[in-house]
Amino acid sequence: MPYAYGRARGPIPHRSTFRHVGGAGASLRSTREVYVSRLHAEHLFKVFGKRPEAAVERLKSGASREELRADGTTAAVIDASFEVEAGQIFVVMGLSGSGKSTLLRMLNGLLEPTAGRVLYDGQDLTALAPRELREVRSRHISMVFQHFALFPHRSVLENAAYGLEVQGVARKEREERAAEALELAGLGGWETSWPDELSGGMQQRVGLARALATDADLLLMDESFSALDPLIRRDMQDQLLDLQTRLKKTIVFITHDLNEAMRLGDRIAVMRDGRVVQNGTAEDILVRPANDYVASFIQDVDRSRVLTAGSIMDAPTAPGSADEVLAAAPATVEADTPVHELFTPFSHSDLPVAVTDERGVLTGVVTRDRLLAALGDEPKAQDAVKAPAVAPVVPAAAQAKEVPAGA
Ligand SMILES: Nc1ncnc2c1ncn2[C@@H]1O[C@H](COP(=O)(O)OP(=O)(O)OP(=O)(O)O)[C@@H](O)[C@H]1O
Ligand SMILES: [Mg+2]
Repeated sequence: MPYAYGRARGPIPHRSTFRHVGGAGASLRSTREVYVSRLHAEHLFKVFGKRPEAAVERLKSGASREELRADGTTAAVIDASFEVEAGQIFVVMGLSGSGKSTLLRMLNGLLEPTAGRVLYDGQDLTALAPRELREVRSRHISMVFQHFALFPHRSVLENAAYGLEVQGVARKEREERAAEALELAGLGGWETSWPDELSGGMQQRVGLARALATDADLLLMDESFSALDPLIRRDMQDQLLDLQTRLKKTIVFITHDLNEAMRLGDRIAVMRDGRVVQNGTAEDILVRPANDYVASFIQDVDRSRVLTAGSIMDAPTAPGSADEVLAAAPATVEADTPVHELFTPFSHSDLPVAVTDERGVLTGVVTRDRLLAALGDEPKAQDAVKAPAVAPVVPAAAQAKEVPAGA
């Protein structure tokens, strides 16, 4: 799949750190373990107010959030289903009140769903006894909030070590691990400082370090960077992407900022009024917004950083053989190259840029006209937008990789 924001990332082999549920499913599981999803939300509902189960039945038969609100009931999350692969950053985006935080709290069991299940490594969190759930939560899942509450009378090191303290890790080990995590979060050298000596951005890094120190595989980040100044926020995004290339955590990241979502997300789920209205890659959302709500979000996005050469290329039907096309092209790129990298080649040539696979075989061409048309396209809701052209000469396996998966 093409990713332009961030870096190219593929599915990462599944590495389970805690016991799978055994039984008949176990052998089946091992055969497909490599690509099994890490986290699976299955038809999750959360209703606040009177008779929540009855409200779920009404929602299932088509009642809207507004109808329920009339009786004083809030449908915070309505029928949310999605999967997050190991090593992915899965972004949940939506306006205030759309249900993002409620969804996140169900993912780590802080809130019990009114209906639906959360599976983590195949284990149903919603079915665990409170003690088991606490164990999973403290060892495998970490949360980073928007305003990270640090303990004012503890040093930065002690704050970063807090999650380990809760786990009962001995002092020496927890201080070593916390110091390592602070280093990773860019705070090496600040161990003995007090929280009030740190800027807001640095305090947020302590929050990140606390989450990293516990070795949790699943990080849940709720608007973790939203309170920061734009430049610091960008810096934190870069740092997270950088950390992710090394640590390969599974991350659910909540934001109401589409640019942040597009930079960070391997996949993005857009929420509106409690429902997931689209779930796709940044490019899917940009090229095929599911509805006008999503389209209105993407108006201000820099399309040249999200669209890739592979998504706008045409079949190499120009006169001449593949070798001639390659020889004449002002540049040769791969399908996942963001289109803003094509501006320079086009500034000194009218000829199409060649798109090749990793073996250097020509798979398509991008013409200057095609590039301009793609950048000028007003985002429209899904059915009004045609799928991007795909070169017929692309081998089937390469197509599967290069064409963005449908929403
Ligand atoms: N404990 C609660 N009791 C009653 N209603 C709640 C509760 N928690 C959340 N809600 C309601 O559920 C809806 C979704 O809230 P939620 O906090 O999940 O939204 P959000 O997308 O995280 O918003 P924001 O971007 O402002 O953080 C809102 O209408 C909110 O008022
Ligand atoms: Mg919230």
